[in-house]
Amino acid sequence: MPLDRLVFKGLRNLQALDISPGPRINLITGANGSGKTSLLEGIHVLGMGRSFRARRLAQVIAHGAGDITLHGRLEGDPPVAIGVRRQREDSDLTLRIGGEKVDRVARLVETLPLQLINPDAFRLLEGPPAGRREFLDWGVFHVKHDFIDVWRRFRRALKHRNALLRHGRMENASLDVWEHELAQWGEQLDAMRDAWVTAFRPVFQDTLDGLLPLPGLRIRYSRGWDRQRPLAEVLHSARGTDSQMGFTQQGPQRADVGIRLDRYPAVDVLSRGQQKLVVSALKLAQGRLLEQMTGQTCLYLIDDLPAELDQHHRAVFCQWLERMQCQAFITSVDHEVLADLWQPDTPVAMFHVKHTDAGSGQLQAIDRQTS
Ligand SMILES: Nc1ncnc2c1ncn2[C@@H]1O[C@H](COP(=O)(O)OP(=O)(O)OP(=O)(O)O)[C@@H](O)[C@H]1O
Ligand SMILES: [Mg+2]
Repeated sequence: MPLDRLVFKGLRNLQALDISPGPRINLITGANGSGKTSLLEGIHVLGMGRSFRARRLAQVIAHGAGDITLHGRLEGDPPVAIGVRRQREDSDLTLRIGGEKVDRVARLVETLPLQLINPDAFRLLEGPPAGRREFLDWGVFHVKHDFIDVWRRFRRALKHRNALLRHGRMENASLDVWEHELAQWGEQLDAMRDAWVTAFRPVFQDTLDGLLPLPGLRIRYSRGWDRQRPLAEVLHSARGTDSQMGFTQQGPQRADVGIRLDRYPAVDVLSRGQQKLVVSALKLAQGRLLEQMTGQTCLYLIDDLPAELDQHHRAVFCQWLERMQCQAFITSVDHEVLADLWQPDTPVAMFHVKHTDAGSGQLQAIDRQTS
Protein backbone atom coordinates (compact mmCIF):
# COMPACT_ATOMS: atom_id res chain seq x y z
CA MET A 1 0.00 0.00 0.00
CA PRO A 2 1.50 3.34 -0.99
CA LEU A 3 1.69 6.38 1.26
CA ASP A 4 -0.73 9.02 0.02
CA ARG A 5 -0.09 11.69 2.64
CA LEU A 6 2.92 12.77 4.67
CA VAL A 7 2.73 15.37 7.43
CA PHE A 8 6.04 16.01 9.16
CA LYS A 9 6.84 18.56 11.86
CA GLY A 10 10.22 19.35 13.37
CA LEU A 11 12.26 17.32 10.85
CA ARG A 12 15.69 18.96 10.37
CA ASN A 13 15.32 22.00 8.12
CA LEU A 14 11.93 20.85 6.76
CA GLN A 15 10.14 22.42 9.68
CA ALA A 16 6.58 21.80 8.54
CA LEU A 17 5.73 19.64 5.58
CA ASP A 18 2.44 18.36 4.23
CA ILE A 19 2.50 16.55 0.88
CA SER A 20 0.39 14.08 -1.05
CA PRO A 21 2.83 11.73 -2.77
CA GLY A 22 1.89 9.85 -5.90
CA PRO A 23 1.27 6.08 -5.72
CA ARG A 24 4.34 5.20 -7.79
CA ILE A 25 7.32 7.35 -8.72
CA ASN A 26 8.01 10.47 -6.67
CA LEU A 27 10.91 12.59 -7.83
CA ILE A 28 12.38 15.04 -5.34
CA THR A 29 14.80 17.61 -6.65
CA GLY A 30 16.52 20.59 -5.08
CA ALA A 31 19.88 22.19 -4.48
CA ASN A 32 22.51 20.85 -2.09
CA GLY A 33 21.43 21.25 1.50
CA SER A 34 17.80 21.95 0.60
CA GLY A 35 16.42 18.92 2.50
CA LYS A 36 15.98 16.05 0.00
CA THR A 37 17.77 13.43 2.08
CA SER A 38 15.94 14.73 5.15
CA LEU A 39 12.61 13.93 3.50
CA LEU A 40 13.75 10.32 2.85
CA GLU A 41 15.09 10.21 6.40
CA GLY A 42 11.65 11.20 7.73
CA ILE A 43 10.00 8.35 5.80
CA HIS A 44 12.70 5.97 7.05
CA VAL A 45 12.03 6.96 10.66
CA LEU A 46 8.32 6.49 10.04
CA GLY A 47 8.87 2.93 8.81
CA MET A 48 11.86 1.80 10.87
CA GLY A 49 11.84 3.97 14.01
CA ARG A 50 15.39 5.11 13.27
CA SER A 51 17.38 7.27 10.91
CA PHE A 52 19.83 5.91 8.33
CA ARG A 53 22.39 8.63 8.96
CA ALA A 54 22.03 9.86 12.52
CA ARG A 55 22.95 7.53 15.37
CA ARG A 56 20.66 9.41 17.72
CA LEU A 57 17.20 10.47 16.68
CA ALA A 58 17.59 13.73 18.61
CA GLN A 59 19.92 14.92 15.80
CA VAL A 60 17.02 14.70 13.36
CA ILE A 61 14.86 17.11 15.40
CA ALA A 62 14.92 20.63 13.92
CA HIS A 63 17.14 23.02 15.85
CA GLY A 64 15.01 24.92 18.30
CA ALA A 65 12.10 22.46 18.10
CA GLY A 66 11.06 20.44 21.15
CA ASP A 67 9.95 17.37 19.26
CA ILE A 68 9.50 15.67 15.92
CA THR A 69 6.19 14.24 14.73
CA LEU A 70 5.93 12.21 11.57
CA HIS A 71 2.59 11.11 10.19
CA GLY A 72 1.91 9.04 7.13
CA ARG A 73 -1.27 7.64 5.64
CA LEU A 74 -1.28 4.36 3.78
CA GLU A 75 -3.82 4.31 0.99
CA GLY A 76 -6.55 1.72 1.37
CA ASP A 77 -10.11 1.13 2.36
CA PRO A 78 -9.95 2.19 5.09
CA PRO A 79 -6.63 4.04 4.95
CA VAL A 80 -4.15 3.31 7.75
CA ALA A 81 -2.53 6.18 9.64
CA ILE A 82 0.93 5.65 11.07
CA GLY A 83 2.76 8.04 13.34
CA VAL A 84 6.04 8.42 15.17
CA ARG A 85 6.78 11.07 17.79
CA ARG A 86 9.97 11.77 19.68
CA GLN A 87 10.48 14.55 22.19
CA ARG A 88 13.92 16.07 22.53
CA GLU A 89 14.10 15.42 26.26
CA ASP A 90 12.74 11.89 26.21
CA SER A 91 14.40 9.11 24.22
CA ASP A 92 11.24 6.99 24.04
CA LEU A 93 9.36 6.89 20.76
CA THR A 94 5.60 7.09 20.65
CA LEU A 95 4.32 4.89 17.84
CA ARG A 96 0.80 4.75 16.47
CA ILE A 97 -0.79 2.56 13.84
CA GLY A 98 -4.42 3.07 12.86
CA GLY A 99 -4.97 5.36 15.85
CA GLU A 100 -3.75 2.76 18.36
CA LYS A 101 -0.59 3.11 20.37
CA VAL A 102 1.88 0.27 19.70
CA ASP A 103 4.99 -0.51 21.70
CA ARG A 104 7.19 -2.33 19.24
CA VAL A 105 9.04 -0.89 16.24
CA ALA A 106 8.61 -4.31 14.59
CA ARG A 107 4.94 -3.38 14.07
CA LEU A 108 5.97 -0.32 12.05
CA VAL A 109 8.45 -2.36 10.03
CA GLU A 110 5.72 -4.88 9.28
CA THR A 111 3.27 -2.16 8.24
CA LEU A 112 5.63 -0.18 6.04
CA PRO A 113 8.27 -2.44 4.44
CA LEU A 114 10.93 -0.20 3.00
CA GLN A 115 14.36 -0.42 1.44
CA LEU A 116 16.93 2.33 1.16
CA ILE A 117 19.40 2.70 -1.69
CA ASN A 118 21.78 5.61 -1.14
CA PRO A 119 25.36 6.59 -1.98
CA ASP A 120 26.51 4.54 1.04
CA ALA A 121 24.95 1.42 -0.47
CA PHE A 122 28.33 -0.17 -1.23
CA ARG A 123 28.78 -0.60 2.53
CA LEU A 124 26.51 -3.62 2.29
CA LEU A 125 29.33 -5.30 0.36
CA GLU A 126 32.28 -3.67 2.04
CA GLY A 127 31.12 -3.26 5.62
CA PRO A 128 30.94 -5.71 8.52
CA PRO A 129 28.64 -8.78 8.42
CA ALA A 130 26.10 -7.13 10.74
CA GLY A 131 24.73 -5.09 7.82
CA ARG A 132 24.31 -8.20 5.68
CA ARG A 133 22.66 -10.10 8.55
CA GLU A 134 20.24 -7.21 8.93
CA PHE A 135 19.48 -7.41 5.20
CA LEU A 136 18.94 -11.15 5.45
CA ASP A 137 16.76 -10.90 8.55
CA TRP A 138 14.64 -8.16 6.99
CA GLY A 139 13.72 -10.65 4.29
CA VAL A 140 13.01 -13.50 6.69
CA PHE A 141 11.06 -11.24 9.08
CA HIS A 142 8.61 -10.20 6.38
CA VAL A 143 7.88 -13.68 5.09
CA LYS A 144 8.02 -15.80 8.26
CA HIS A 145 5.58 -14.83 10.99
CA ASP A 146 7.38 -16.70 13.74
CA PHE A 147 10.80 -15.25 12.89
CA ILE A 148 10.68 -12.42 15.40
CA ASP A 149 9.72 -14.76 18.23
CA VAL A 150 12.52 -17.23 17.36
CA TRP A 151 14.99 -14.36 17.01
CA ARG A 152 14.07 -12.87 20.41
CA ARG A 153 14.36 -16.25 22.16
CA PHE A 154 17.71 -16.82 20.50
CA ARG A 155 19.02 -13.37 21.54
CA ARG A 156 17.85 -13.94 25.11
CA ALA A 157 19.62 -17.31 25.36
CA LEU A 158 22.78 -15.83 23.84
CA LYS A 159 22.75 -12.96 26.33
CA HIS A 160 22.44 -15.36 29.27
CA ARG A 161 25.13 -17.73 28.01
CA ASN A 162 27.52 -14.81 27.46
CA ALA A 163 26.83 -13.46 30.94
CA LEU A 164 27.64 -16.86 32.48
CA LEU A 165 30.84 -17.14 30.41
CA ARG A 166 31.95 -13.68 31.48
CA HIS A 167 31.49 -14.56 35.13
CA GLY A 168 33.37 -17.85 34.74
CA ARG A 169 30.39 -19.98 35.85
CA MET A 170 31.43 -23.00 33.83
CA GLU A 171 29.91 -25.68 36.04
CA ASN A 172 26.70 -23.87 36.55
CA ALA A 173 23.67 -25.96 35.59
CA SER A 174 22.26 -22.77 34.08
CA LEU A 175 24.87 -23.04 31.34
CA ASP A 176 23.29 -26.33 30.24
CA VAL A 177 19.87 -24.74 30.25
CA TRP A 178 20.83 -21.67 28.20
CA GLU A 179 22.98 -23.69 25.83
CA HIS A 180 20.03 -25.97 25.15
CA GLU A 181 17.82 -22.93 24.44
CA LEU A 182 20.49 -21.31 22.31
CA ALA A 183 20.97 -24.43 20.19
CA GLN A 184 17.24 -24.99 19.77
CA TRP A 185 16.41 -21.44 18.63
CA GLY A 186 19.71 -21.01 16.80
CA GLU A 187 19.04 -24.06 14.62
CA GLN A 188 15.56 -22.72 13.83
CA LEU A 189 16.92 -19.31 12.98
CA ASP A 190 19.45 -20.86 10.63
CA ALA A 191 16.83 -23.03 8.93
CA MET A 192 14.67 -19.96 8.25
CA ARG A 193 17.60 -17.94 6.92
CA ASP A 194 18.80 -20.83 4.76
CA ALA A 195 15.33 -21.33 3.24
CA TRP A 196 15.03 -17.61 2.57
CA VAL A 197 18.40 -17.43 0.79
CA THR A 198 17.40 -20.40 -1.38
CA ALA A 199 14.24 -18.58 -2.45
CA PHE A 200 16.07 -15.26 -2.83
CA ARG A 201 18.94 -16.45 -5.02
CA PRO A 202 17.05 -16.93 -8.34
CA VAL A 203 15.13 -13.66 -7.88
CA PHE A 204 18.39 -11.85 -7.26
CA GLN A 205 20.07 -13.46 -10.29
CA ASP A 206 17.17 -12.46 -12.51
CA THR A 207 17.20 -8.88 -11.19
CA LEU A 208 20.94 -8.59 -11.61
CA ASP A 209 20.79 -9.98 -15.16
CA GLY A 210 18.41 -7.15 -16.04
CA LEU A 211 20.49 -4.49 -14.33
CA LEU A 212 24.11 -5.49 -14.89
CA PRO A 213 24.84 -8.98 -16.20
CA LEU A 214 27.71 -10.46 -14.12
CA PRO A 215 27.55 -14.21 -14.77
CA GLY A 216 30.16 -15.15 -12.17
CA LEU A 217 28.47 -13.33 -9.28
CA ARG A 218 27.25 -15.61 -6.50
CA ILE A 219 25.77 -15.16 -3.06
CA ARG A 220 26.66 -17.66 -0.42
CA TYR A 221 25.09 -17.96 3.00
CA SER A 222 27.31 -19.03 5.87
CA ARG A 223 25.45 -19.87 9.03
CA GLY A 224 28.09 -18.93 11.59
CA TRP A 225 29.27 -22.38 12.61
CA ASP A 226 30.51 -25.62 11.05
CA ARG A 227 28.05 -26.93 8.41
CA GLN A 228 28.63 -30.53 9.46
CA ARG A 229 27.99 -30.21 13.18
CA PRO A 230 24.88 -29.50 15.26
CA LEU A 231 25.00 -26.21 17.15
CA ALA A 232 24.53 -27.94 20.52
CA GLU A 233 27.70 -29.95 19.98
CA VAL A 234 29.66 -26.92 18.79
CA LEU A 235 28.62 -24.90 21.84
CA HIS A 236 29.40 -27.69 24.24
CA SER A 237 32.87 -28.33 22.88
CA ALA A 238 33.68 -24.60 22.73
CA ARG A 239 32.90 -23.92 26.40
CA GLY A 240 36.58 -23.66 27.31
CA THR A 241 37.63 -21.19 24.60
CA ASP A 242 34.35 -19.28 24.81
CA SER A 243 34.87 -18.72 28.51
CA GLN A 244 38.44 -17.49 27.90
CA MET A 245 37.08 -15.03 25.34
CA GLY A 246 34.09 -14.16 27.48
CA PHE A 247 31.53 -14.62 24.70
CA THR A 248 29.99 -17.21 22.37
CA GLN A 249 32.22 -17.35 19.32
CA GLN A 250 30.10 -19.47 16.98
CA GLY A 251 26.44 -19.48 16.09
CA PRO A 252 23.84 -17.57 14.05
CA GLN A 253 25.12 -14.28 15.55
CA ARG A 254 28.13 -14.81 13.24
CA ALA A 255 26.15 -15.61 10.08
CA ASP A 256 27.04 -13.78 6.87
CA VAL A 257 26.13 -13.53 3.22
CA GLY A 258 29.23 -13.63 1.06
CA ILE A 259 29.05 -11.97 -2.34
CA ARG A 260 31.76 -13.11 -4.71
CA LEU A 261 32.60 -12.64 -8.33
CA ASP A 262 34.14 -15.90 -9.45
CA ARG A 263 36.87 -16.53 -6.87
CA TYR A 264 37.08 -12.98 -5.49
CA PRO A 265 35.05 -10.98 -2.98
CA ALA A 266 32.84 -8.73 -5.14
CA VAL A 267 34.00 -5.65 -3.28
CA ASP A 268 37.64 -6.26 -4.33
CA VAL A 269 36.95 -6.38 -8.05
CA LEU A 270 33.87 -4.32 -8.84
CA SER A 271 33.92 -0.60 -9.60
CA ARG A 272 31.89 1.76 -7.42
CA GLY A 273 29.12 1.96 -10.03
CA GLN A 274 29.04 -1.83 -10.37
CA GLN A 275 28.87 -2.15 -6.59
CA LYS A 276 25.94 0.24 -6.47
CA LEU A 277 24.15 -1.83 -9.12
CA VAL A 278 24.81 -5.11 -7.30
CA VAL A 279 23.49 -3.64 -4.05
CA SER A 280 20.50 -2.19 -5.92
CA ALA A 281 19.83 -5.64 -7.41
CA LEU A 282 19.94 -7.14 -3.90
CA LYS A 283 17.48 -4.56 -2.61
CA LEU A 284 15.15 -4.69 -5.59
CA ALA A 285 15.16 -8.49 -5.36
CA GLN A 286 14.15 -8.18 -1.68
CA GLY A 287 11.05 -6.27 -2.77
CA ARG A 288 10.27 -8.69 -5.60
CA LEU A 289 10.52 -11.72 -3.33
CA LEU A 290 8.42 -9.99 -0.68
CA GLU A 291 5.70 -9.41 -3.23
CA GLN A 292 5.91 -12.96 -4.58
CA MET A 293 5.64 -14.47 -1.12
CA THR A 294 3.21 -12.11 0.62
CA GLY A 295 1.58 -9.89 -2.01
CA GLN A 296 2.91 -6.85 -0.12
CA THR A 297 4.87 -4.22 -2.03
CA CYS A 298 8.00 -2.59 -0.71
CA LEU A 299 8.55 1.16 -0.62
CA TYR A 300 11.88 2.37 -2.02
CA LEU A 301 13.85 5.35 -0.79
CA ILE A 302 16.53 6.12 -3.36
CA ASP A 303 18.83 8.95 -2.44
CA ASP A 304 20.76 10.48 -5.31
CA LEU A 305 19.85 7.84 -7.86
CA PRO A 306 22.08 9.30 -10.62
CA ALA A 307 25.25 9.18 -8.48
CA GLU A 308 27.86 6.70 -9.82
CA LEU A 309 25.56 5.51 -12.63
CA ASP A 310 25.81 6.22 -16.34
CA GLN A 311 22.70 7.15 -18.30
CA HIS A 312 22.10 3.59 -19.53
CA HIS A 313 22.19 2.14 -16.02
CA ARG A 314 20.00 4.93 -14.65
CA ALA A 315 17.45 3.99 -17.29
CA VAL A 316 17.50 0.23 -16.55
CA PHE A 317 17.26 0.94 -12.82
CA CYS A 318 14.18 3.07 -13.44
CA GLN A 319 12.70 0.36 -15.67
CA TRP A 320 12.93 -2.12 -12.81
CA LEU A 321 11.12 0.28 -10.49
CA GLU A 322 8.41 0.70 -13.10
CA ARG A 323 8.08 -3.01 -13.61
CA MET A 324 7.79 -3.67 -9.89
CA GLN A 325 4.89 -1.21 -9.61
CA CYS A 326 6.14 -0.09 -6.21
CA GLN A 327 6.10 3.35 -4.66
CA ALA A 328 9.47 5.07 -4.77
CA PHE A 329 10.86 8.36 -3.49
CA ILE A 330 13.85 9.29 -5.59
CA THR A 331 16.09 12.30 -5.05
CA SER A 332 18.43 14.09 -7.40
CA VAL A 333 20.06 17.50 -7.54
CA ASP A 334 19.21 17.82 -11.22
CA HIS A 335 15.71 17.63 -12.48
CA GLU A 336 16.69 16.82 -16.07
CA VAL A 337 18.63 13.59 -15.52
CA LEU A 338 15.62 11.72 -14.14
CA ALA A 339 12.58 13.42 -15.59
CA ASP A 340 12.64 11.72 -18.99
CA LEU A 341 13.40 8.15 -17.94
CA TRP A 342 9.79 7.04 -17.44
CA GLN A 343 7.16 5.51 -19.69
CA PRO A 344 4.31 7.93 -20.47
CA ASP A 345 1.79 5.79 -18.56
CA THR A 346 3.87 5.61 -15.34
CA PRO A 347 2.50 8.01 -12.73
CA VAL A 348 5.33 10.37 -11.82
CA ALA A 349 4.85 13.02 -9.13
CA MET A 350 7.49 15.70 -8.85
CA PHE A 351 8.49 17.81 -5.92
CA HIS A 352 11.02 20.56 -5.60
CA VAL A 353 12.65 21.42 -2.28
CA LYS A 354 13.37 25.10 -2.00
CA HIS A 355 15.91 26.38 0.45
CA THR A 356 14.67 29.62 1.98
CA ASP A 357 16.80 32.50 3.22
CA ALA A 358 15.82 31.59 6.76
CA GLY A 359 17.57 28.22 6.28
CA SER A 360 14.43 26.13 6.15
CA GLY A 361 13.37 23.95 3.24
CA GLN A 362 9.94 23.98 1.65
CA LEU A 363 8.51 21.32 -0.59
CA GLN A 364 6.53 22.33 -3.63
CA ALA A 365 4.70 19.94 -5.93
CA ILE A 366 5.49 20.49 -9.60
CA ASP A 367 3.02 19.78 -12.33
CA ARG A 368 4.52 17.15 -14.68
CA GLN A 369 3.39 18.91 -17.84
CA THR A 370 4.74 22.30 -16.91
CA SER A 371 8.02 21.03 -15.51
N1 LIG B 1 18.61 19.33 13.24
C1 LIG B 1 18.59 20.23 12.25
N2 LIG B 1 17.81 21.33 12.32
C2 LIG B 1 17.77 22.23 11.30
N3 LIG B 1 18.46 22.10 10.15
C3 LIG B 1 19.24 21.01 10.05
C4 LIG B 1 19.35 20.03 11.07
N4 LIG B 1 20.20 19.07 10.65
C5 LIG B 1 20.61 19.45 9.43
N5 LIG B 1 20.05 20.61 9.05
C6 LIG B 1 20.17 21.31 7.76
O1 LIG B 1 19.21 20.68 6.93
C7 LIG B 1 19.60 20.77 5.55
C8 LIG B 1 19.17 19.51 4.91
O2 LIG B 1 20.18 18.67 4.50
P1 LIG B 1 19.93 17.43 3.54
O3 LIG B 1 21.04 16.53 3.79
O4 LIG B 1 18.56 16.91 3.70
O5 LIG B 1 20.05 18.14 2.12
P2 LIG B 1 20.04 17.52 0.67
O6 LIG B 1 19.01 18.27 -0.10
O7 LIG B 1 19.93 16.07 0.72
O8 LIG B 1 21.49 17.96 0.13
P3 LIG B 1 22.53 17.24 -0.87
O9 LIG B 1 22.06 17.50 -2.26
O10 LIG B 1 23.80 17.93 -0.60
O11 LIG B 1 22.56 15.79 -0.53
C9 LIG B 1 21.07 21.15 5.57
O12 LIG B 1 21.15 22.46 5.05
C10 LIG B 1 21.47 21.13 7.04
O13 LIG B 1 22.33 22.17 7.38
MG1 LIG C 1 21.26 14.56 0.24
